Formats: sequence, structure tokens, C-alpha cells
Amino acid sequence: KILAARDISSVAGYMKSKDCKNVMMMLGAGVSTSAGIPDFRSPETGLYSNLARLNLPHPEAVFEINFFRRNPVPFYTLAHELYPGKFRPTITHSFIRLLAEKGLLHTCFTQNIDTLERRAGVPEEKIIEAHGSFATQRCIDCSETFDDNDMKRHILQKKIARCVSCGGYVKPDIVFFGEALPEIFIRAVPNLRKADLLIVMGTSLTVQPFASLAERVDDSCPRVLINLDHVGSFGSRSDDVALLGKCDEVVRDLCKELGWDDELNQLWDE
Ligand code: OAD
Repeated sequence: KILAARDISSVAGYMKSKDCKNVMMMLGAGVSTSAGIPDFRSPETGLYSNLARLNLPHPEAVFEINFFRRNPVPFYTLAHELYPGKFRPTITHSFIRLLAEKGLLHTCFTQNIDTLERRAGVPEEKIIEAHGSFATQRCIDCSETFDDNDMKRHILQKKIARCVSCGGYVKPDIVFFGEALPEIFIRAVPNLRKADLLIVMGTSLTVQPFASLAERVDDSCPRVLINLDHVGSFGSRSDDVALLGKCDEVVRDLCKELGWDDELNQLWDE
């Protein structure tokens, strides 16, 4: 057992010790809800319970590649609402940057496509966007890439982009259900064995293979869950700590314990 107790001050104590060098993070939509971006599965506020207006056979269809082939309109409608640029990173995103500035962040695995980690100043080489992002796009038929500015215009005008070569539908390089995860993700997974600490934040841990990353760290590696509710297998290992609550609030408390609160506020004010 590494942690003195399963609580926030033991986590902070360990983070300040010389034994904690490589921190890995796993993020989900819950870290961006305070920025105004809905998550997927929260009852009432989550995207999947608010998609009735898009006439989908089932909510996840909006992110299914076979459904998109038949009807790209629901995805484009959603993309218009979720398009990055409209949202400011949260205090939780600033905390991830602070971890990087302290030299503690090894890799930040994120399921989010909102790019708020980069916008908060987390170094790009530390971020693995496991479900892709809106940064690039291509034709779903011939894989020809499509111009960034043209794509932006289409999404902002709610128009469906078509491939200049073959006329197929263009889709941002977001990983849909039924598609493989990016190479960069697959290459980064073995690094989890180097983790001295895993912090999982704002995810229901329901989507594979991402959810299984939490099992990839050594049995001896402390795992911290910061989430509204209990998820995954947290609690099954002796050094699992669940800090339940809103991630912005838990992160503030953790930074107080670490004596990092001024630095956190400075980054957040930038
Ligand atoms: P979910 O919506 O499934 O889960 C979000 C989790 O964050 C839930 O457990 C919430 O209770 C929690 N949460 C919400 N707000 C929070 C807050 N302020 N503080 C702390 N916790 C909070 O979202 P993901 O797990 O990210 O995939 O979903 C995984 C994937 O499913 C997404 O990447 C997306 C989706 O289908 C694709 O689009 C490919």
C-alpha cells in the first residue's frame, strides 16, 4: 500500500513525494460541463437524453459511422452546437496544465473532442485525443482530406461538406462507433505501465477500449477518481481513492492541499 489513507490529503502528500513522477490522466465529458458543453449520459442534461429533436433511431446513432453514411444531418446539427471555439477551458483544464508545468504530467488521455486541453495550454505532446477531434477531416468514401477553413464554414452554416474528388460526405476525424481509435492512441497505451499515479476525471467509463485504460496501470499504482458518481472498478484496489463531487471543486481542494492554489488561480485567470 502506497497511500497513507484513501483521502485527498494522502493523495496530495503522495503527489509531493519523490515517488510520484509520472502522472497519467484519463478525461471524459464531465471535465467540460462547467464550460457549458453537455456530457453524454447524465440524466436530463446529457446529450443522449436531448437528441429527440434529431429523429434518431437511438441516441448513439448520431456518432455511428453506418448511420452517418445514410444520414449526416443529425451529426452536422450537433457539430454546429458543439463546434470548438465557443467555449473557455475550465479550472480543471488549468490544473492539468499546472501538472505539466510541475513536470508531473506524463500523458493526458482524453475522450473529449472539444480541444479544451490544448486551449488551456497543456503541451500538445502530452495530450492523446483518443476519440479524435475537429482539427482535421476527410471524405468517408475515398479518405481525401478537406480544407480546414472550408469545413469550419460548412459547420457554422450547418451545410454538409462534400468531397471535392468523389462527392462523398466529409466527416471530422472524430472517432465514431464502428471506427478504430487513432494510431497515436494505440502507441501510447503501453506507457500506462510507467504510471506512478492515475487520475480519472469526468467519465462514466462506459466506452471501450478507453475505459479499460484504468486497468492497465500496475496494481501498485494509486488510482484517483474525481467524478460526480462512482464508476468503473474504482474501490477494487487497495490504493483506489474516490473523490466524489464536481471536478472543479475537487481540483481546487486538491490544489489547496498541495499548496498550489495561487498558481492554479493565476493560470485560470490568464
Ligand atoms: P459520459 O456522459 O458518459 O460521462 C460523464 C461522467 O462525468 C458521468 O459519470 C457524470 O456523472 C460525470 N460528470 C458530469 N459533470 C461532472 C462534473 N462537473 N464534475 C465531475 N463529474 C461530472 O461521458 P464520457 O465518459 O466522456 O464518444 O463518454 C465517453 C464517450 O461516449 C464519449 O467520448 C463519446 C460518447 O459516445 C464518442 O463520441 C466516440
